[in-house]
Parts: sequence; C-alpha cells; structure tokens
Amino acid sequence: MINRITELLGIEYPIISAAMTWVTSAEFVAAVSNAGGMGVLGPNAGQTEKATSAEDMADRLTKEIRKVKALTNKPFAVNYIFPMGGATEDPFTNAVFDVLVKENVKNVIAIGQHVVDRELKRLKEQDFKVVYRDLSPTVEKLVEAEKSGVDALIVTGYEAGGHMSDYKISTLSLVPQITSLVKIPVIAAGGIIDGRGAKASTIYGCRRCIYGNKVYSDQRKSS
Ligand SMILES: Cc1cc2nc3c(=O)[nH]c(=O)nc-3n(C[C@H](O)[C@H](O)[C@H](O)COP(=O)(O)O)c2cc1C
Repeated sequence: MINRITELLGIEYPIISAAMTWVTSAEFVAAVSNAGGMGVLGPNAGQTEKATSAEDMADRLTKEIRKVKALTNKPFAVNYIFPMGGATEDPFTNAVFDVLVKENVKNVIAIGQHVVDRELKRLKEQDFKVVYRDLSPTVEKLVEAEKSGVDALIVTGYEAGGHMSDYKISTLSLVPQITSLVKIPVIAAGGIIDGRGAKASTIYGCRRCIYGNKVYSDQRKSS
C-alpha cells in the first residue's frame, strides 16, 4: 500500500505506532518496524524509573536507540516533545535533539501545544522528517501547523489515549475537516481499533468521494 506517508517515511504500510511513554521499548518499536509500520520510541522508552537529568535521559535514549538498530534495519522514529507553555527552549528537548543527530535518526513524531519555530527550523536543517501531532488539535491550529512547514500531521480526536485534548472533538469530526483544508499528508488516530477503522480513515482522507448520488469534494482552491 503505497501512499504519501509510506513514501515520506520509507515504510511498507501507512501505520504508525503510538509513541506511548514507558511502553514503547526498543523491542516494541523494532517489532512494529519489522512488520512494515513505523515504530516510535516514546519518552522513558525501556525504563522503569524517571531519568535524573537531561544528560541521564540522553544516555538512556542513546542506549535504547542502539538496541532498536540492533533489532531492525527498518526506519523508526523517536517522539520529540516541543517546549511547552510558551517556552522556546527546553533542556530535555535539547538533549533529545543532540542524541538524534548523533545517532542519525531521521524521523520524529513531534508533539506540542503548537509548532515551535526554533525547533522545526533546526530539525529541518538536519533533514528530519517531522510529523506533528498537536496535543489539543483544532482546525485552526492544524492549518497553522501546515503553514509552519511540518511534513505531515497526526490528527487525534478526543478518543485518543494518553494526554487528553482540551477540546472534545471526535476523530470522526476532526479528521475530514483537516484533510479538506491541508495539502500535507494526514494520519488519523484516536479510537481506531481494527481494520474497519483503518479503512474508514482512508475515506476521511478522500479529496473527492462519491457516495450514492452525492459528490463530497474538498474546500481548497483549485490552485
Ligand atoms: C498509555 C499511552 C501513553 C501515551 N503516551 C504518549 C507519549 O508519550 N507521546 C505521544 O506522542 N503520544 C502518546 N500517547 C498517544 C498516542 O501516541 C496516540 O496518539 C493515541 O494513543 C492514539 O489514540 P488511540 O489510543 O485511540 O489509538 C499515548 C497513548 C497511550 C494509550
């Protein structure tokens, strides 16, 4: 199944594993990547206790990345947390950036309250593929995220596990609004539990779909 996501990330299937803090160990990530999807190392990957400092976290992340590399030669990504609360810098984010550059990891699933320009700039300067997931997504915020220059969007409805959005908008409501307005690839997430949900997600991405005698086309200008 080839589409813009498989081409962007160099994977076989357009399926990206959730970056789950504590849960996504190297073994977990390599299993997903070996199966043809995109494994994503989340925060605290492979750990049972919190890192004591940014340096400690960097050491642990380096070890976990090397373990993934030993278990797969397929692409994988690392979760990248943009500085929050209006900050433009964060020591933990800086440490992750340095590790990823050193370890030549080229894909990040970035999360945040908005795209932080300084972060995106330095990631793009190092040729990272940046897939952005807003923690509280709205149509306006994701249209802005596209303008900022990220490569793709993960759009999560309120059903999504982990950090809850501030807004109670379901995946079913949010995703088609976004795919109608942005040009970059969109990955749907939140409450998708089996092949039926995955198939439905590809329909949310349709730019021009015909159901019965009705044509649903997107709202973008033809240019
Ligand atoms: C236990 C758990 C922990 C999570 N931790 C993170 C995280 O650390 N970083 C992140 O980007 N997303 C995290 N998420 C969110 C997932 O990446 C994903 O967006 C979400 O699970 C998709 O919705 P679903 O659970 O309905 O499939 C977490 C989800 C769960 C269930």
